[in-house]
Amino acid sequence: MAQIEFPELKNDLILKAAKGEPVERIPIWIMRQAGRYLPEFQEIRSKHDFFSVCQTPALASEVTLQPIKRFDLDASIIFSDILVIPQAMGLIVEMVPGTGPVLPQPIKDPSDLIRLIQPNVEKDLKYVGDAITLTRHKLEGKVPLIGFTGAAWTLMSYMIQGGGSSTMTKARQWLYKYPEESHKLLQMITDVIIDYLVMQVKAGAQLLQVFESHADFLNDELFDNYSFKYLKEISEKVRQRLKEENIPEVPMIAFPKGATMNSLEILAKSKTYEVLGLDWTVNPIEARKRFGSDIVLQGNLDPCTLYASEEEIINRSKNMVKMFGKTRYIANLGHGIQPDTPIASVTALIKGIHSV
Ligand code: CP3
Repeated sequence: MAQIEFPELKNDLILKAAKGEPVERIPIWIMRQAGRYLPEFQEIRSKHDFFSVCQTPALASEVTLQPIKRFDLDASIIFSDILVIPQAMGLIVEMVPGTGPVLPQPIKDPSDLIRLIQPNVEKDLKYVGDAITLTRHKLEGKVPLIGFTGAAWTLMSYMIQGGGSSTMTKARQWLYKYPEESHKLLQMITDVIIDYLVMQVKAGAQLLQVFESHADFLNDELFDNYSFKYLKEISEKVRQRLKEENIPEVPMIAFPKGATMNSLEILAKSKTYEVLGLDWTVNPIEARKRFGSDIVLQGNLDPCTLYASEEEIINRSKNMVKMFGKTRYIANLGHGIQPDTPIASVTALIKGIHSV
């Protein structure tokens, strides 16, 4: 398939950093940079429900561009949600204000697996591809566009738990009670994720992030068996498919939030992802020591740092860069930005990073 033509890229800092090349300035983007802390986002959300914004390319694209217009960021990330995959597989997902995502009819036991459909990604999630293509044009090459997905375990845990949880016990029980069926479900989800990421690259995504947001529920054995196995397959098969279709590869970021240091080390040294995203609990100096010299690291300022004074935010941002080093590094928070974050704090963070 011929690739779509897009405006020439003016800022390739994040792509260079992701490939391990030296950069003249450290790239920064912020997880959930398009979101509720922005009044212009709230304005759109007051008129449209969450998934309508995701499903309407003009709206998704507008929201994606909001933080780019306001801040000196080095990447954009397409506005969507990881839960569009469970939706495409036939489950109802509602975004309940104040609660978060709710799946009213979760997968309770293996007999429920027949309710899941293997979607036609190019058709059923076409709206995401269309939003990506439109956004690439509207960005006019200002910064690269990141595509993303949830990883298999994180999506499986939402599908079983039926929403967020501080323990995810229903989902974790499955891993012990129904190991075979757990693998069956993870494989079904993985197959969809692979099609979905390939589609995003074809549509114009220049970098891909895989969110394993629920890695914090897994010990080393469970991570290896139920997360790493599929993270690896996703990376390998996406690259293979792109190669077969003569489409240039894009760098890939894995963000296993809350994974143990051992699990992070195994993932980093496997070289399946160019970039490893770290949450704020990981010590950058120890990460550099343990994860090898090839891996590019991304992160990891505690999102709550953004409630400190602007001076403190700038100092802590500079200190973070000092700990990670200036090469093989992409600055970010250690998780998504909080909805009530002061806007001036975001400006201070970017200023701090760019001043190094
Ligand atoms: O700017 C961006 O980062 C792109 C958009 C984006 C959203 N969700 C929009 C969103 C991205 C990358 C995600 C990923 C996502 N969604 C993850 C992985 C990252 C992470 O946080 O670990 C997860 C676990 C989800 C599932 C999800 N979606 C949750 C738990 C919630 C509720 C929590 C919350 O912040 O409200 C959502 C809702 C959601 N996704 C919002 C946004 C802007 C807020 C909902 C609203 O506007 O009402």
